[in-house]
Amino acid sequence: MPPSLEALKAELESVRTKAVQEIDAAKTPEAVEALRVRYLGKKGVLAGLMSHLRALPAEARPSFGQAVNALREALEDQIGARRAALEAAALEARLQAEAIDVTLPGEALAPGARHPLSQVIEAIEDIFIGMGYRIAEGPDVEWDTYNFERLNIPKDHPARDMQDSFYLTDEMLLRTHTSPVQVREMLAMAPRTPLKIICPGNVYRRDTDDATHSHMFTQIEGLVVGEGVRMSDLKGTLEQFARRLFGEETKIRLRPSYFPFTEPSAEVDVTCSACGGTGCRVCKWTGWLEVLGAGMVHPKVLEAGGYDPRRVSGFAFGLGVERIAMIKYGVDDIRQFYVNDARVLRSFVAC
Ligand code: PHE
Repeated sequence: MPPSLEALKAELESVRTKAVQEIDAAKTPEAVEALRVRYLGKKGVLAGLMSHLRALPAEARPSFGQAVNALREALEDQIGARRAALEAAALEARLQAEAIDVTLPGEALAPGARHPLSQVIEAIEDIFIGMGYRIAEGPDVEWDTYNFERLNIPKDHPARDMQDSFYLTDEMLLRTHTSPVQVREMLAMAPRTPLKIICPGNVYRRDTDDATHSHMFTQIEGLVVGEGVRMSDLKGTLEQFARRLFGEETKIRLRPSYFPFTEPSAEVDVTCSACGGTGCRVCKWTGWLEVLGAGMVHPKVLEAGGYDPRRVSGFAFGLGVERIAMIKYGVDDIRQFYVNDARVLRSFVAC
């Protein structure tokens, strides 16, 4: 017994009621899509209704076909509207959740600053680069022969006691000064001239740390080797350097001293930058500050570096970066440079 038109139309109405309710109740776009497949898909409920068409009497077919198609269109519209509403609600929820309140106070950033020792090293490098020097570096772990032997400090030399060392093996140590870079650079360069270098770096000595001593500190070495290099060249260079670093009115003085690797040797003082040379607490009322050691490169050192001391001569100097930074920044405890306390480091402005 084929279904009657009335029965099919009644079924169509019950499908409509159910579908309208379910689409209305769908909570997610995925649920809406599942309903679309269920009702409007190729094997869906409406296709099932349509399949009864052939069983109907010919005159009833158009009216039922139109009714099914009208329902299809109505459901398509409802599904499209429901999907749009759900997507809009989801977007709105996301915008709410991701909203940024730009009026909230931000997280304070602690701005850093160049470390004062780096600032001093760079300032000194700039001065010597301006005079045609090149920067050279050597290793912190050094051979005894470069740190001492080839600098005219043989094994039993009392000068070794001046620089108490950290030895790693019999032949290897943490360098006690930057002077071994002189040897390395001479060996690399000889017999060519001129050799003009400055060498910044860490050095290590077995000292007890206190306000003015540190077992590790920073030096800058200078070396010039060439034909006819004289003591007056050394003095003029250091004068120029002191004026650039401490101010145009700065004067220097050389006092006789002793280093095994220079002959003659000198301690170099600059007029106190705190009082201008009249005497104050910083310079212990002498008007002078000792800032570096220097001298004419010893012939034995030139020879150990591969140069012929009868043909070339040279001068060298070595300065302590911490000492200069303490003078420039008015710091009275060397340990301030090593604490890595951002509050302390921030207090040093570029010099
Ligand atoms: N190397 C010496 C020191 O550390 C400094 C120096 C370097 C002196 C070069 C003269 C020439 O005390």
